[in-house]
Amino acid sequence: MDMYVIQGGQPLRGTVTISGSKNACLPLMCAALLAKTPTVLENVPDLRDIRSMKSVLEHMNVRAEFANGRMTIDPAGFDTPWVPYELMSQMRASMYAFGPMIARLDRASVSKPGGCNIGSRPIDLHLKGFRALGVHMNERGGYIHAVHDGLMGAEMSLAGPFGPSVGATCNILMAATLAEGRTVIHDAAREPEIVELGEFLIAMGARISGLGSSTLVIDGVKTLNGVNWTVMPDRIEAATFATAALLTHGDIVMKNVTAAHMGATLSELLRWGAEITLLDEERTIRVRRCPSRDPEPLDLTTGPYPQLATDVQALFVTLLGLTPGTSRVEEGIYQDRFMHVEELNRLGANIRQKGNRAIIRGVERYDGAPVMASDLRAGAALTLAALAAHGESQVRRIYHVERGYEHFERKLAALGANIRREKQRDAVPAFDVGEGGEESREA
Ligand code: UD1
Repeated sequence: MDMYVIQGGQPLRGTVTISGSKNACLPLMCAALLAKTPTVLENVPDLRDIRSMKSVLEHMNVRAEFANGRMTIDPAGFDTPWVPYELMSQMRASMYAFGPMIARLDRASVSKPGGCNIGSRPIDLHLKGFRALGVHMNERGGYIHAVHDGLMGAEMSLAGPFGPSVGATCNILMAATLAEGRTVIHDAAREPEIVELGEFLIAMGARISGLGSSTLVIDGVKTLNGVNWTVMPDRIEAATFATAALLTHGDIVMKNVTAAHMGATLSELLRWGAEITLLDEERTIRVRRCPSRDPEPLDLTTGPYPQLATDVQALFVTLLGLTPGTSRVEEGIYQDRFMHVEELNRLGANIRQKGNRAIIRGVERYDGAPVMASDLRAGAALTLAALAAHGESQVRRIYHVERGYEHFERKLAALGANIRREKQRDAVPAFDVGEGGEESREA
Protein backbone atom coordinates (compact mmCIF):
# COMPACT_ATOMS: atom_id res chain seq x y z
CA MET A 1 0.00 0.00 0.00
CA ASP A 2 1.31 3.47 -0.87
CA MET A 3 1.22 6.74 1.03
CA TYR A 4 2.07 10.36 0.35
CA VAL A 5 4.98 11.81 2.29
CA ILE A 6 4.55 15.56 2.40
CA GLN A 7 6.76 18.38 3.68
CA GLY A 8 4.24 21.14 4.23
CA GLY A 9 4.65 24.87 3.96
CA GLN A 10 5.21 25.45 0.23
CA PRO A 11 2.76 27.91 -1.36
CA LEU A 12 1.28 26.24 -4.46
CA ARG A 13 1.68 28.42 -7.54
CA GLY A 14 1.20 27.91 -11.24
CA THR A 15 -1.25 26.47 -13.73
CA VAL A 16 -3.06 23.15 -13.53
CA THR A 17 -5.34 21.52 -16.10
CA ILE A 18 -8.46 20.03 -14.57
CA SER A 19 -9.35 16.51 -15.74
CA GLY A 20 -12.62 15.15 -17.06
CA SER A 21 -15.28 14.53 -14.42
CA LYS A 22 -15.33 11.04 -12.91
CA ASN A 23 -18.92 11.42 -11.75
CA ALA A 24 -20.05 12.48 -15.22
CA CYS A 25 -18.02 9.84 -17.02
CA LEU A 26 -19.26 6.80 -15.04
CA PRO A 27 -22.94 7.13 -16.11
CA LEU A 28 -21.90 8.03 -19.68
CA MET A 29 -19.96 4.76 -19.94
CA CYS A 30 -23.12 2.88 -18.98
CA ALA A 31 -25.42 5.00 -21.15
CA ALA A 32 -23.27 3.97 -24.14
CA LEU A 33 -24.79 0.47 -23.72
CA LEU A 34 -28.23 1.80 -24.64
CA ALA A 35 -27.06 2.03 -28.27
CA LYS A 36 -26.13 -0.80 -30.60
CA THR A 37 -23.29 1.16 -32.24
CA PRO A 38 -19.98 2.30 -30.67
CA THR A 39 -19.48 5.45 -28.62
CA VAL A 40 -16.21 7.35 -28.25
CA LEU A 41 -15.63 9.32 -25.05
CA GLU A 42 -12.85 11.94 -24.90
CA ASN A 43 -11.33 13.64 -21.83
CA VAL A 44 -11.81 10.46 -19.79
CA PRO A 45 -9.77 10.63 -16.57
CA ASP A 46 -7.39 7.73 -15.87
CA LEU A 47 -8.74 6.71 -12.46
CA ARG A 48 -9.35 3.54 -10.50
CA ASP A 49 -13.13 4.05 -10.61
CA ILE A 50 -13.08 4.47 -14.40
CA ARG A 51 -11.07 1.25 -14.73
CA SER A 52 -13.49 -0.52 -12.37
CA MET A 53 -16.40 0.54 -14.59
CA LYS A 54 -14.46 -0.65 -17.64
CA SER A 55 -14.22 -4.06 -15.92
CA VAL A 56 -18.00 -3.99 -15.34
CA LEU A 57 -18.54 -3.35 -19.08
CA GLU A 58 -16.11 -6.11 -20.07
CA HIS A 59 -17.84 -8.51 -17.71
CA MET A 60 -21.03 -7.81 -19.69
CA ASN A 61 -19.19 -8.66 -22.95
CA VAL A 62 -18.94 -5.05 -24.02
CA ARG A 63 -15.65 -4.12 -25.71
CA ALA A 64 -14.02 -1.11 -24.10
CA GLU A 65 -10.64 0.32 -25.10
CA PHE A 66 -9.01 3.06 -23.09
CA ALA A 67 -5.84 4.98 -23.92
CA ASN A 68 -4.69 8.61 -23.74
CA GLY A 69 -7.96 9.93 -22.36
CA ARG A 70 -10.09 8.28 -25.05
CA MET A 71 -12.44 5.39 -24.42
CA THR A 72 -14.17 3.50 -27.20
CA ILE A 73 -17.14 1.44 -26.09
CA ASP A 74 -18.61 -1.08 -28.51
CA PRO A 75 -21.83 -2.57 -27.11
CA ALA A 76 -22.34 -5.06 -30.00
CA GLY A 77 -21.72 -8.06 -27.71
CA PHE A 78 -23.65 -6.73 -24.67
CA ASP A 79 -25.43 -9.85 -23.42
CA THR A 80 -24.74 -10.39 -19.70
CA PRO A 81 -27.43 -8.98 -17.43
CA TRP A 82 -25.66 -9.21 -14.09
CA VAL A 83 -22.93 -7.55 -12.02
CA PRO A 84 -21.23 -9.78 -9.46
CA TYR A 85 -20.38 -8.93 -5.87
CA GLU A 86 -16.64 -8.63 -6.66
CA LEU A 87 -17.29 -5.71 -9.05
CA MET A 88 -20.14 -4.10 -7.13
CA SER A 89 -18.15 -4.07 -3.90
CA GLN A 90 -15.30 -2.20 -5.61
CA MET A 91 -17.53 0.67 -6.59
CA ARG A 92 -21.15 1.51 -5.84
CA ALA A 93 -21.50 3.38 -9.13
CA SER A 94 -21.58 -0.07 -10.81
CA MET A 95 -25.29 0.31 -10.04
CA TYR A 96 -25.42 2.55 -13.15
CA ALA A 97 -25.29 -0.62 -15.23
CA PHE A 98 -28.75 -1.55 -13.92
CA GLY A 99 -30.73 0.88 -16.13
CA PRO A 100 -29.07 -0.13 -19.43
CA MET A 101 -29.33 -3.87 -18.56
CA ILE A 102 -33.05 -3.52 -17.88
CA ALA A 103 -33.66 -1.41 -21.00
CA ARG A 104 -31.59 -3.51 -23.45
CA LEU A 105 -31.63 -7.04 -22.01
CA ASP A 106 -35.04 -6.96 -20.20
CA ARG A 107 -33.50 -8.30 -17.00
CA ALA A 108 -30.80 -7.45 -14.47
CA SER A 109 -29.20 -8.97 -11.42
CA VAL A 110 -26.85 -6.93 -9.26
CA SER A 111 -25.20 -7.64 -5.97
CA LYS A 112 -26.76 -5.33 -3.36
CA PRO A 113 -24.27 -2.57 -2.59
CA GLY A 114 -23.33 -2.43 1.09
CA GLY A 115 -22.66 0.58 3.32
CA CYS A 116 -19.44 2.48 2.88
CA ASN A 117 -17.11 4.75 4.80
CA ILE A 118 -19.34 7.78 4.46
CA GLY A 119 -22.30 5.95 6.02
CA SER A 120 -25.47 4.25 4.91
CA ARG A 121 -26.15 4.51 1.17
CA PRO A 122 -29.47 2.85 0.32
CA ILE A 123 -30.76 2.19 -3.22
CA ASP A 124 -34.49 2.23 -2.45
CA LEU A 125 -35.10 5.20 -4.78
CA HIS A 126 -33.51 3.37 -7.73
CA LEU A 127 -35.76 0.37 -7.06
CA LYS A 128 -38.85 2.53 -6.60
CA GLY A 129 -38.25 4.13 -9.99
CA PHE A 130 -37.77 0.82 -11.77
CA ARG A 131 -40.93 -0.60 -10.17
CA ALA A 132 -42.83 2.42 -11.49
CA LEU A 133 -41.56 1.53 -15.01
CA GLY A 134 -43.05 -1.96 -14.64
CA VAL A 135 -40.00 -3.90 -13.45
CA HIS A 136 -40.60 -6.83 -11.06
CA MET A 137 -37.93 -7.31 -8.45
CA ASN A 138 -36.95 -9.63 -5.66
CA GLU A 139 -33.94 -10.00 -3.39
CA ARG A 140 -32.18 -13.31 -2.86
CA GLY A 141 -28.70 -14.30 -1.70
CA GLY A 142 -27.49 -10.71 -1.50
CA TYR A 143 -28.59 -10.00 -5.09
CA ILE A 144 -31.44 -7.98 -6.54
CA HIS A 145 -33.06 -9.77 -9.47
CA ALA A 146 -35.18 -7.76 -11.85
CA VAL A 147 -37.24 -8.65 -14.91
CA HIS A 148 -40.01 -7.08 -17.01
CA ASP A 149 -42.12 -7.78 -20.04
CA GLY A 150 -42.10 -4.30 -21.54
CA LEU A 151 -40.85 -1.10 -19.92
CA MET A 152 -43.75 1.34 -19.65
CA GLY A 153 -43.32 5.09 -19.15
CA ALA A 154 -44.67 6.29 -15.77
CA GLU A 155 -44.88 9.30 -13.46
CA MET A 156 -42.82 9.13 -10.26
CA SER A 157 -41.04 11.13 -7.58
CA LEU A 158 -37.40 10.39 -6.70
CA ALA A 159 -37.39 12.49 -3.50
CA GLY A 160 -35.53 10.90 -0.61
CA PRO A 161 -35.08 11.92 3.03
CA PHE A 162 -32.01 14.01 2.09
CA GLY A 163 -33.28 15.36 -1.22
CA PRO A 164 -33.20 13.82 -4.68
CA SER A 165 -30.79 11.03 -5.59
CA VAL A 166 -28.19 11.63 -8.29
CA GLY A 167 -27.72 7.91 -8.92
CA ALA A 168 -31.44 7.07 -9.07
CA THR A 169 -32.13 10.01 -11.41
CA CYS A 170 -29.36 8.85 -13.79
CA ASN A 171 -30.50 5.24 -13.70
CA ILE A 172 -34.19 5.95 -14.39
CA LEU A 173 -33.33 8.59 -17.01
CA MET A 174 -31.28 6.00 -18.91
CA ALA A 175 -33.93 3.25 -18.76
CA ALA A 176 -36.82 5.59 -19.61
CA THR A 177 -35.22 6.62 -22.93
CA LEU A 178 -36.11 3.16 -24.32
CA ALA A 179 -39.44 2.68 -22.44
CA GLU A 180 -42.77 2.85 -24.22
CA GLY A 181 -44.49 6.21 -23.84
CA ARG A 182 -43.78 9.13 -21.53
CA THR A 183 -41.95 9.10 -18.20
CA VAL A 184 -42.10 12.07 -15.85
CA ILE A 185 -39.56 12.21 -13.01
CA HIS A 186 -40.53 14.65 -10.27
CA ASP A 187 -37.96 15.69 -7.64
CA ALA A 188 -35.15 14.76 -10.01
CA ALA A 189 -31.59 15.67 -9.06
CA ARG A 190 -30.26 18.72 -10.91
CA GLU A 191 -26.49 18.21 -10.72
CA PRO A 192 -24.48 19.28 -13.81
CA GLU A 193 -23.47 15.61 -14.27
CA ILE A 194 -27.16 14.77 -14.84
CA VAL A 195 -27.53 17.56 -17.38
CA GLU A 196 -24.44 16.14 -19.09
CA LEU A 197 -25.97 12.65 -19.15
CA GLY A 198 -29.25 14.03 -20.52
CA GLU A 199 -27.49 15.96 -23.29
CA PHE A 200 -25.45 12.87 -24.14
CA LEU A 201 -28.65 10.81 -24.39
CA ILE A 202 -30.27 13.49 -26.58
CA ALA A 203 -27.23 13.34 -28.89
CA MET A 204 -27.80 9.56 -29.07
CA GLY A 205 -31.39 10.18 -30.21
CA ALA A 206 -33.33 10.30 -26.90
CA ARG A 207 -36.22 12.73 -26.32
CA ILE A 208 -35.78 14.49 -22.98
CA SER A 209 -36.90 17.88 -21.69
CA GLY A 210 -36.49 19.71 -18.39
CA LEU A 211 -32.75 19.06 -17.94
CA GLY A 212 -31.38 21.12 -15.06
CA SER A 213 -34.83 21.41 -13.45
CA SER A 214 -36.39 19.07 -10.91
CA THR A 215 -38.93 17.68 -13.41
CA LEU A 216 -37.65 15.58 -16.29
CA VAL A 217 -39.91 14.46 -19.12
CA ILE A 218 -38.71 11.56 -21.26
CA ASP A 219 -40.54 10.27 -24.33
CA GLY A 220 -39.34 6.77 -25.13
CA VAL A 221 -37.77 5.97 -28.52
CA LYS A 222 -37.13 2.60 -30.19
CA THR A 223 -33.34 2.81 -30.65
CA LEU A 224 -30.37 5.01 -29.78
CA ASN A 225 -27.07 5.45 -31.63
CA GLY A 226 -23.50 5.70 -30.36
CA VAL A 227 -21.90 9.18 -30.41
CA ASN A 228 -18.57 11.00 -29.97
CA TRP A 229 -18.54 13.00 -26.73
CA THR A 230 -16.10 15.03 -24.65
CA VAL A 231 -16.57 14.57 -20.89
CA MET A 232 -17.18 17.78 -18.91
CA PRO A 233 -14.53 19.11 -16.47
CA ASP A 234 -14.46 17.82 -12.90
CA ARG A 235 -15.94 20.54 -10.69
CA ILE A 236 -14.87 18.76 -7.48
CA GLU A 237 -11.25 18.48 -8.62
CA ALA A 238 -11.36 22.19 -9.45
CA ALA A 239 -12.73 22.96 -5.97
CA THR A 240 -9.84 20.91 -4.55
CA PHE A 241 -7.14 22.94 -6.32
CA ALA A 242 -8.93 26.20 -5.44
CA THR A 243 -8.84 25.20 -1.75
CA ALA A 244 -5.20 24.16 -2.10
CA ALA A 245 -4.29 27.66 -3.33
CA LEU A 246 -6.00 29.27 -0.33
CA LEU A 247 -4.71 26.84 2.30
CA THR A 248 -1.08 27.20 1.19
CA HIS A 249 -1.19 31.00 0.57
CA GLY A 250 -0.56 30.25 -3.09
CA ASP A 251 -1.91 31.40 -6.45
CA ILE A 252 -3.33 28.80 -8.85
CA VAL A 253 -4.73 29.14 -12.35
CA MET A 254 -7.05 26.26 -13.27
CA LYS A 255 -7.65 25.50 -16.94
CA ASN A 256 -10.46 23.43 -18.48
CA VAL A 257 -13.12 24.26 -15.87
CA THR A 258 -16.74 25.32 -16.14
CA ALA A 259 -17.19 28.09 -13.58
CA ALA A 260 -20.99 27.95 -13.99
CA HIS A 261 -20.96 24.49 -12.34
CA MET A 262 -19.16 25.82 -9.27
CA GLY A 263 -21.55 28.58 -8.15
CA ALA A 264 -21.97 27.66 -4.46
CA THR A 265 -18.31 26.72 -3.98
CA LEU A 266 -17.00 29.92 -5.53
CA SER A 267 -19.44 32.17 -3.68
CA GLU A 268 -18.52 30.59 -0.30
CA LEU A 269 -14.82 30.96 -1.09
CA LEU A 270 -15.43 34.62 -1.97
CA ARG A 271 -17.27 35.14 1.33
CA TRP A 272 -14.32 33.49 3.08
CA GLY A 273 -11.88 35.95 1.54
CA ALA A 274 -10.67 34.49 -1.73
CA GLU A 275 -9.89 36.53 -4.82
CA ILE A 276 -11.37 34.71 -7.79
CA THR A 277 -10.80 35.80 -11.37
CA LEU A 278 -12.71 34.21 -14.24
CA LEU A 279 -10.87 34.22 -17.56
CA ASP A 280 -11.24 32.75 -21.05
CA GLU A 281 -15.08 32.76 -21.09
CA GLU A 282 -15.14 31.27 -17.59
CA ARG A 283 -13.15 28.19 -18.63
CA THR A 284 -10.12 29.33 -16.63
CA ILE A 285 -10.20 30.38 -12.98
CA ARG A 286 -7.44 32.04 -10.95
CA VAL A 287 -7.66 31.66 -7.17
CA ARG A 288 -5.60 33.25 -4.39
CA ARG A 289 -6.19 34.96 -1.06
CA CYS A 290 -7.62 38.47 -1.37
CA PRO A 291 -4.64 40.71 -0.52
CA SER A 292 -6.82 43.41 1.08
CA ARG A 293 -8.83 41.43 3.64
CA ASP A 294 -8.47 38.68 6.22
CA PRO A 295 -10.28 35.36 5.85
CA GLU A 296 -13.57 35.03 7.73
CA PRO A 297 -15.22 32.05 9.40
CA LEU A 298 -18.31 30.62 7.68
CA ASP A 299 -21.58 28.87 8.53
CA LEU A 300 -22.19 26.27 5.80
CA THR A 301 -24.69 23.56 4.99
CA THR A 302 -24.24 21.03 2.21
CA GLY A 303 -27.22 19.97 0.11
CA PRO A 304 -28.39 18.91 -3.34
CA TYR A 305 -27.28 21.04 -6.32
CA PRO A 306 -27.32 24.03 -6.63
CA GLN A 307 -26.45 24.06 -2.90
CA LEU A 308 -22.91 23.43 -1.68
CA ALA A 309 -21.88 19.88 -2.65
CA THR A 310 -21.25 17.28 0.06
CA ASP A 311 -18.14 16.31 -1.92
CA VAL A 312 -16.48 19.63 -1.01
CA GLN A 313 -17.43 19.53 2.68
CA ALA A 314 -14.12 18.01 3.87
CA LEU A 315 -12.20 20.62 1.86
CA PHE A 316 -14.09 23.48 3.52
CA VAL A 317 -13.67 21.95 6.99
CA THR A 318 -9.91 21.79 6.35
CA LEU A 319 -9.80 25.42 5.21
CA LEU A 320 -11.95 26.66 8.10
CA GLY A 321 -9.73 24.77 10.54
CA LEU A 322 -7.06 27.38 9.78
CA THR A 323 -9.45 30.37 9.70
CA PRO A 324 -9.55 32.61 12.80
CA GLY A 325 -12.93 32.53 14.58
CA THR A 326 -15.62 29.87 14.88
CA SER A 327 -17.16 28.22 11.81
CA ARG A 328 -20.03 25.77 11.63
CA VAL A 329 -20.54 23.13 8.95
CA GLU A 330 -23.69 21.05 8.67
CA GLU A 331 -23.69 17.96 6.43
CA GLY A 332 -27.06 17.73 4.69
CA ILE A 333 -26.55 14.63 2.52
CA TYR A 334 -24.48 12.00 4.38
CA GLN A 335 -25.05 12.26 8.11
CA ASP A 336 -21.82 10.41 9.02
CA ARG A 337 -19.47 12.03 6.55
CA PHE A 338 -17.02 13.39 9.11
CA MET A 339 -14.29 10.76 9.24
CA HIS A 340 -11.72 13.46 8.39
CA VAL A 341 -12.43 15.43 11.57
CA GLU A 342 -10.43 13.22 13.94
CA GLU A 343 -7.58 13.05 11.45
CA LEU A 344 -7.52 16.86 11.10
CA ASN A 345 -7.48 17.10 14.89
CA ARG A 346 -4.35 14.90 14.83
CA LEU A 347 -2.75 17.66 12.73
CA GLY A 348 -3.68 20.16 15.43
CA ALA A 349 -7.14 21.32 14.29
CA ASN A 350 -9.77 22.14 16.91
CA ILE A 351 -12.97 20.63 15.53
CA ARG A 352 -15.82 19.20 17.53
CA GLN A 353 -18.38 17.02 15.78
CA LYS A 354 -21.87 16.33 17.01
CA GLY A 355 -24.26 14.40 14.79
CA ASN A 356 -24.16 15.93 11.34
CA ARG A 357 -22.55 19.19 12.51
CA ALA A 358 -18.96 20.27 13.01
CA ILE A 359 -17.95 23.27 15.08
CA ILE A 360 -14.56 24.49 13.98
CA ARG A 361 -12.43 26.82 16.05
CA GLY A 362 -9.69 28.11 13.80
CA VAL A 363 -6.12 27.40 14.90
CA GLU A 364 -2.96 29.20 13.80
CA ARG A 365 -1.26 26.21 12.23
CA TYR A 366 -1.41 22.51 11.51
CA ASP A 367 1.58 20.38 12.48
CA GLY A 368 2.64 17.43 10.38
CA ALA A 369 1.58 13.94 11.53
CA PRO A 370 0.69 10.56 10.07
CA VAL A 371 -2.97 10.55 9.02
CA MET A 372 -5.23 8.09 7.26
CA ALA A 373 -7.62 8.65 4.35
CA SER A 374 -11.00 7.06 5.08
CA ASP A 375 -12.63 7.90 1.74
CA LEU A 376 -11.94 9.75 -1.47
CA ARG A 377 -12.74 13.35 -0.51
CA ALA A 378 -11.48 13.01 3.06
CA GLY A 379 -8.20 11.76 1.61
CA ALA A 380 -7.90 14.78 -0.69
CA ALA A 381 -8.69 17.15 2.18
CA LEU A 382 -6.05 15.53 4.43
CA THR A 383 -3.49 15.82 1.63
CA LEU A 384 -4.20 19.56 1.42
CA ALA A 385 -4.04 19.90 5.20
CA ALA A 386 -0.62 18.21 5.12
CA LEU A 387 0.53 20.63 2.40
CA ALA A 388 -0.42 23.53 4.66
CA ALA A 389 1.07 21.98 7.83
CA HIS A 390 4.47 22.64 9.37
CA GLY A 391 6.80 19.68 9.02
CA GLU A 392 6.32 16.21 7.60
CA SER A 393 3.05 14.32 7.24
CA GLN A 394 2.25 10.93 5.86
CA VAL A 395 -1.14 10.44 4.26
CA ARG A 396 -1.95 6.74 4.35
CA ARG A 397 -4.41 4.67 2.31
CA ILE A 398 -4.12 6.93 -0.72
CA TYR A 399 -5.83 4.31 -2.86
CA HIS A 400 -9.01 6.13 -1.80
CA VAL A 401 -7.66 9.38 -3.28
CA GLU A 402 -6.67 7.68 -6.51
CA ARG A 403 -10.23 6.53 -7.11
CA GLY A 404 -11.08 10.12 -8.02
CA TYR A 405 -8.00 12.32 -8.65
CA GLU A 406 -5.99 11.85 -11.82
CA HIS A 407 -2.20 12.18 -11.29
CA PHE A 408 -2.87 13.97 -8.00
CA GLU A 409 0.63 14.03 -6.58
CA ARG A 410 2.13 14.84 -10.01
CA LYS A 411 -0.20 17.84 -10.42
CA LEU A 412 0.52 19.05 -6.87
CA ALA A 413 4.29 18.64 -7.34
CA ALA A 414 4.13 20.66 -10.58
CA LEU A 415 2.59 23.49 -8.52
CA GLY A 416 5.53 23.39 -6.10
CA ALA A 417 4.32 20.89 -3.48
CA ASN A 418 6.94 18.83 -1.71
CA ILE A 419 5.13 15.51 -2.04
CA ARG A 420 6.36 12.04 -2.85
CA ARG A 421 4.90 8.61 -2.94
CA GLU A 422 6.32 5.79 -0.85
CA LYS A 423 5.38 2.35 0.35
CA GLN A 424 3.51 2.64 3.63
CA ARG A 425 5.81 2.12 6.62
CA ASP A 426 5.42 2.47 10.37
CA ALA A 427 5.50 6.05 11.57
CA VAL A 428 8.37 6.85 13.95
CA PRO A 429 7.18 9.48 16.43
CA ALA A 430 9.44 12.52 16.78
CA PHE A 431 10.18 12.87 20.49
CA ASP A 432 9.73 16.55 21.19
CA VAL A 433 8.16 17.43 24.53
CA GLY A 434 8.76 21.16 24.28
CA GLU A 435 8.58 23.27 27.46
CA GLY A 436 8.22 21.34 30.70
CA GLY A 437 9.71 18.39 28.88
CA GLU A 438 11.32 16.78 31.89
CA GLU A 439 8.00 16.60 33.69
CA SER A 440 6.25 15.18 30.67
CA ARG A 441 8.98 12.59 30.26
CA GLU A 442 8.42 11.41 33.82
CA ALA A 443 4.71 11.05 33.17
C1 UD1 B 1 -23.40 10.79 -6.12
C2 UD1 B 1 -21.93 11.04 -6.30
C3 UD1 B 1 -21.26 11.36 -4.97
C4 UD1 B 1 -21.99 12.48 -4.26
C5 UD1 B 1 -23.49 12.19 -4.17
C6 UD1 B 1 -24.29 13.35 -3.60
C7 UD1 B 1 -21.30 9.68 -8.20
C8 UD1 B 1 -20.61 8.46 -8.69
N1 UD1 B 1 -21.33 9.85 -6.88
O1 UD1 B 1 -23.54 9.61 -5.32
O2 UD1 B 1 -19.91 11.74 -5.23
O3 UD1 B 1 -21.46 12.62 -2.94
O4 UD1 B 1 -24.01 11.91 -5.48
O5 UD1 B 1 -24.11 14.49 -4.36
O6 UD1 B 1 -21.75 10.51 -8.96
N2 UD1 B 1 -30.43 7.98 -1.06
C9 UD1 B 1 -31.52 7.28 -0.61
N3 UD1 B 1 -32.01 6.27 -1.41
C10 UD1 B 1 -31.47 5.97 -2.62
C11 UD1 B 1 -30.36 6.69 -3.07
C12 UD1 B 1 -29.85 7.70 -2.26
O7 UD1 B 1 -32.04 7.53 0.47
O8 UD1 B 1 -31.96 5.05 -3.29
C13 UD1 B 1 -29.86 9.06 -0.22
C14 UD1 B 1 -28.39 8.87 0.09
O9 UD1 B 1 -28.19 8.05 1.23
C15 UD1 B 1 -27.94 10.31 0.31
C16 UD1 B 1 -28.78 11.09 -0.69
O10 UD1 B 1 -29.91 10.26 -0.98
O11 UD1 B 1 -28.26 10.73 1.61
C17 UD1 B 1 -28.07 11.43 -1.98
O12 UD1 B 1 -27.50 10.24 -2.55
P1 UD1 B 1 -27.26 10.10 -4.11
O13 UD1 B 1 -27.49 11.42 -4.76
O14 UD1 B 1 -28.00 8.92 -4.63
O15 UD1 B 1 -25.69 9.77 -4.18
P2 UD1 B 1 -24.95 8.87 -5.24
O16 UD1 B 1 -25.63 8.95 -6.57
O17 UD1 B 1 -24.68 7.52 -4.66
